[in-house]
Amino acid sequence: RRVTDSATRLLNWYAGHARTLPWRSPPGAPLPADPDWPYRVWLSEIMLQQTTVAAVQPYFTAFTARWPDVAALAAADDADVMQAWAGLGYYARARNLLACARAVVRDHGGRFPGDEAVLRSLPGIGDYTAAAVAAFGFGRHAIVIDGNVERVTTRLFAIATPLPAARAVIRSRLAALVPAAAGDFAQAMMDLAGRICTPRAPRCEACPLRPDCAAAAAGNPEEYPVKPPR
Ligand code: ADE
Ligand code: SF4
Repeated sequence: RRVTDSATRLLNWYAGHARTLPWRSPPGAPLPADPDWPYRVWLSEIMLQQTTVAAVQPYFTAFTARWPDVAALAAADDADVMQAWAGLGYYARARNLLACARAVVRDHGGRFPGDEAVLRSLPGIGDYTAAAVAAFGFGRHAIVIDGNVERVTTRLFAIATPLPAARAVIRSRLAALVPAAAGDFAQAMMDLAGRICTPRAPRCEACPLRPDCAAAAAGNPEEYPVKPPR
């Protein structure tokens, strides 16, 4: 069995099961031509860092209605943004949000950069968010890794190395697995992780990766990812 078969099975499943979200382009579709699309992706990813999809949606709608592009957000009063953020919590994110919007206007002509390394130089953007904006916002071939992707990947390949050392193994396995449609692939992994490959009692019988999954074959998916020794 070739690893590319797993990616194809996952993308086929995603084509029929993707959640429709206002910061997501539909499976298989080209990215929207909207020049503010990367801004929307970035905003959603900052909001989603410690907050659920359901809680984020009304805030995302309100923010994009009030500040439709990065220049508008950069010009906002700090107090207005903090007030609009109220309820999402983790207020450092809102301060970084403004700092990042202003850096994009000041240093990048009001357009988000598409390069992961340049994205990482912006306030509040780490490895995960840089990869997510590059893939979901620009269609770049980026490897997007969050806790959900880690869970699915360690199960799929039965990666027994404990976290955090497992991350290097996860990255190299994904490097061989991520298809050209890197954004769809990552968002498919997130949906699979939320609905099928859940932390407890994963529904392997309904999983498109079941034929390829080493942990399901061994009958011990819940043992992954392996936690650091303590
Ligand atoms: N969590 C973080 N990014 C996400 C996305 N693009 N779709 C769903 N959940 C997410
Ligand atoms: Fe997760 Fe089970 Fe699917 Fe493997 S077969 S990826 S453990 S849901």
